[in-house]
Amino acid sequence: MVPAGEGAMKIFIDSADVKEIRDAAAMGLVDGVTTNPSLVAKTGRPFADVIRDIVEIVNGPISAEVLSTDYEGMMGEARSLAKVHPNIVVKLPLIPEGLKATRTCSQEGIKTNVTLCFSATQGLLAAKAGATYISPFIGRIDDAAGDGMEVVEQLVAIYRGYGFETQVLAASIRNPTHVVRAALMGADVATIPYGVLLQLAKHPLTDVGLAKFLEDAKKIPR
Ligand code: E4P
Repeated sequence: MVPAGEGAMKIFIDSADVKEIRDAAAMGLVDGVTTNPSLVAKTGRPFADVIRDIVEIVNGPISAEVLSTDYEGMMGEARSLAKVHPNIVVKLPLIPEGLKATRTCSQEGIKTNVTLCFSATQGLLAAKAGATYISPFIGRIDDAAGDGMEVVEQLVAIYRGYGFETQVLAASIRNPTHVVRAALMGADVATIPYGVLLQLAKHPLTDVGLAKFLEDAKKIPR
């Protein structure tokens, strides 16, 4: 029998902050982690230290991004990142050199997350190159007056229609509505910032209801 929830949208945390990651993991929310150079820079810590800590906290796919923009450089970084831990997923930018590196990584059995995807055409190419994950940046597409959710919907339809194994990882999520819509569209993964994860659990009526229960509990005879 398939366990309940098997095949459901996975939740990754989009963070390089080990405190946030630990806290979200303690709530049982974290199936994996995505980082990017901006998130690592915010921690003020060396990249290697951050990644080493994260793989100890979360037993799931951990995306770590390359900084090279040429094929040889990307492959050098990809091969050394892959040696850090079996859960490392190498994050490669969606540029022609990145697609070449994606193809080689796929042939070498190195998992990839092709990042900075802003269109279905880009996502189609990433799948053909053998990407493990594609990251459409919903919030940034919306910021540019596009429809980020539409790109997620198109990628899910194209990948399912043609049987690509590449997983759609909804990224650049800014609010709970993005999460609900990604789940309805059948995205494989949503990578969610810590603040939005907390928002998902929040409801004003929960807080009001809890306050009332605690107040009434004081009236219960001991
Ligand atoms: C994805 O892997 C990226 O780290 C991230 O989702 C980018 O989000 P932002 O547009 O909020 O920076």
